[in-house]
Parts: sequence; structure tokens; C-alpha cells
Amino acid sequence: MLQIQRNVSLKNFNTFGVDAIAKYFVEINKKEELAELFMDPQWKQMKMLVLGGGSNLLLLKDFDGLVIRVNIRGIEHRISHNEVFIEAGAGEVWNDLVNFCVIRGYAGLENLSLIPGSVGASPIQNIGAYGVELQDVFHSCNAFELQTGAFKTFNKEDCHFGYRESAFKNELKGQYIIVSVKFQLSLIPHFNLTYGAIEQELKDRNITSPTIRDVSQVVSHIRVSKLPDPSTIGNAGSFFKNPVIGAEQFDQLQAKFSEIVHYPAKDGQVKLAAGWLIEQCGWKGKVVGNTGTWKNQALVLVNHGGATGEEVYTFSSQIIDSVYTKFGVMLQREVNIIS
Ligand code: FAD
Ligand code: EPU
Repeated sequence: MLQIQRNVSLKNFNTFGVDAIAKYFVEINKKEELAELFMDPQWKQMKMLVLGGGSNLLLLKDFDGLVIRVNIRGIEHRISHNEVFIEAGAGEVWNDLVNFCVIRGYAGLENLSLIPGSVGASPIQNIGAYGVELQDVFHSCNAFELQTGAFKTFNKEDCHFGYRESAFKNELKGQYIIVSVKFQLSLIPHFNLTYGAIEQELKDRNITSPTIRDVSQVVSHIRVSKLPDPSTIGNAGSFFKNPVIGAEQFDQLQAKFSEIVHYPAKDGQVKLAAGWLIEQCGWKGKVVGNTGTWKNQALVLVNHGGATGEEVYTFSSQIIDSVYTKFGVMLQREVNIIS
């Protein structure tokens, strides 16, 4: 029997550590429970938030609706020649899945080590780090369609993955609850070590022929040195996306700011490092009330204790304004804003 609780604090369910109350809260442990839940028409009409690890959202206020915490577990794997197909429940912890694969020598997820959150959320923003994105290893996912109560499988093409984007954040927003994700990995590693910091760290450790475990450990080490641990200081990782601009705008900016940190992007466009833009505006490590930016990474907004969602949001607007004033570049929030 499903347990629907009332007036539940979400403080321990979001890595920003923002204190907000959910009017209704339910935990889903099996996919069949979704059908059971939505048999009652009152939930279909209600405002809804699907929650994994709460590591990519900012709650602006109490949530006047139903929070569905997806806790569906289970990892199954099948090996065919050198390919490994892994299917994991949406409620599995992402990094547990990474470790499951690293220990067994299944290659593909190692660059995505230590990203917080759940497996089910991983396709939502096509998580990425250190030169690899989810779409590089994604096979398909299975999701509950709220409108019909049917389960539907989405393959890679259906998901319209982009940089921190997918169909689930855009045209399919709010229509599906992902219940499991299937990955296609390999017994033969094809390492992506192009990210400068990985190369350097491997060199420092005198590793010339890295194993999957080496790469995972190096990535984890780099992440810990840069990013604040949500269990000690509230945050949701990068608050903004790295902006992608046209070549012409970039040339004008580079003429003015010769040090501007940039990377080539699709179709001749240029990706800028938002952290650099924010740092140049003087925000790095700034404390503003209960919020601020992280001292080692200006792209990460933090909760120094007791910050409200509104406070963090207002601060993020200040950053957007000052980056726009100085560089003419409009930052977009990466974190999901929940109002
Ligand atoms: P939540 O925050 O719970 O949800 C995020 C969104 O997905 C919400 O809109 C929610 O409604 C939706 N959602 C969640 N589960 C489901 C589901 N089962 N079905 C449908 N919708 C769902 N991200 C990166 O890409 N790369 C990084 O390197 C990275 N580093 C981070 C470092 C830190 C310290 C932190 C705190 C965050 C970082 N993130 C990073 C962001 C975050 O880890 C990812 O976005 C992660 O996938 C969020 O998972 P979650 O389960 O916590 O999602
Ligand atoms: N930089 C600064 N000042 C800063 C921060 C960064 O000048 O305060 C410059 C530096 O030149 C640095 C460059 O920006 O070399 C890039 O910084 P970093 O390697 O830390 O990566 P990022 O672009 O800030 C992105 C992702 C991260 C991901 C890392 C590693 C986005 C929005 N963020 O950050 O993802 O872990 O690359 O691949 O794309 C997340 O999405 O939550 C997240 C943490």
C-alpha cells in the first residue's frame, strides 16, 4: 500500500539544503506503484515534482503539490561479445552504478564518476563531465507516461540529447517518469583522456597505461579538489550552463578580453567557461548573505547555511546581470528552478 505523507520537509532531499515543505510526498519503490498511484485521479490533476537525489534543483518555496521520490532499485547486466548492456532502476545512486561497472571492468562510465544524483535523472540533462556525456553510453530508457499510464521505451534518437539538454527537459517536460535506464558499455576501454586535468593527474601519478579504475580515481580526485561536497556545504553543482556563442561574437569578445577561456563547439560555435566570466566580474568566493559562489569554482553557488531558495535565485540574477553588462553574454541557469 502506498504511503502518501503530508507536510514533509524537503531539506534532506535537496543538496542545496533549502528548507521547503512538500504538501504531499510519496516514495515509489516499484514501477507498478506508479500505476497504483495514478489510479486516483486527484494526483493526475495536481502539481507534481519528480525527485531523484535533488542535486540539480532549487526550491524557491514550499511545494504546493505532490512530490514523487523515485526509489526504484536494481541493476541487471548482460554481456554479448565485448559489449555490456546494463539496465539500472531509476532510483539507483548514479555513482553506485559507476562503481558497479568500474569494479567489473565495464568501460564507459568512468569519466562520469562521482556525479551526485540518481540514474533516473541522468538522461534529463544528459549529464556530462571530463569529455564524456551520458549520450555516449546511453542505449534507452523506460518511462511511465502520466497521461496514459503506459510504459514507453525511448531510444537515443528519441531523447534529442544536447549539451545539458534532452527532450525530457523540453518538448516532453512533465509528461514522463523515468523508471529505468539502459546503458551500452564495453569490455574494451576507449578512454577519453583529452581533458587537460586528467592528463596532468595521470602524469603526476606516473600512470602511462591507465585502467578503468585509474581513470575513475583520477576523475574523482579532480572533482573533490574543485567542487564543494553537498554533505558539508549546500550546492547543486554548476548553477549555470557554459554559454555557447557564434564565432563573430566570440571574435569581438576575444579582441577585448584576450584571456577569455573558450572551447570549440558544434557548427563553428564557441563555448565559453561561465566560471571564468563570473570570476572576472569579481564574484568568485564572494559571500552574499547566506549564499555566494564557491571559493574554488565561481560557477557553483552555495548555501552557507539557512539560505532560502529565493535568496539563491536573487543572487543568481545579480550574477546574470553583471556578466551581461561586462561581456554581453546572457547566462542560462542549468539548475531546475522549482516554484
Ligand atoms: P534531481 O535533482 O532530483 O532532479 C533533476 C531534474 O530531473 C528535475 O527536474 C526532476 O524532476 C527530474 N527527474 C529526476 N528524476 C527523474 C525521473 N526518474 N524521471 C523524470 N524526471 C526526473 N551534473 C552534470 O551533468 N555533470 C557534473 O559534473 C555534475 N556535477 C555535480 C556536482 C555536484 C557537487 C552537484 C551537487 C551536482 C552536480 N551535477 C552535475 C548535477 C547533478 O548531479 C545531475 O544533474 C544529476 O543527474 C541530478 O540527479 P538527481 O537524481 O539529483 O536529480
Ligand atoms: N574557470 C575560472 N574560474 C572559475 C571556474 C572556472 O576561470 O572560478 C575557468 C578555468 O579556466 C577552468 C575552466 O573555467 O579551466 C573550466 O572549469 P572546470 O574544468 O571546473 O569546468 P566547468 O566548465 O566550470 C563543466 C561542467 C561541470 C563538469 C566539468 C568537468 C557545465 C555547466 N559544467 O564545468 O559539470 O563537472 O565541466 O567536465 O558544463 C554540473 O553540471 O553541475 C557540473 C559540475
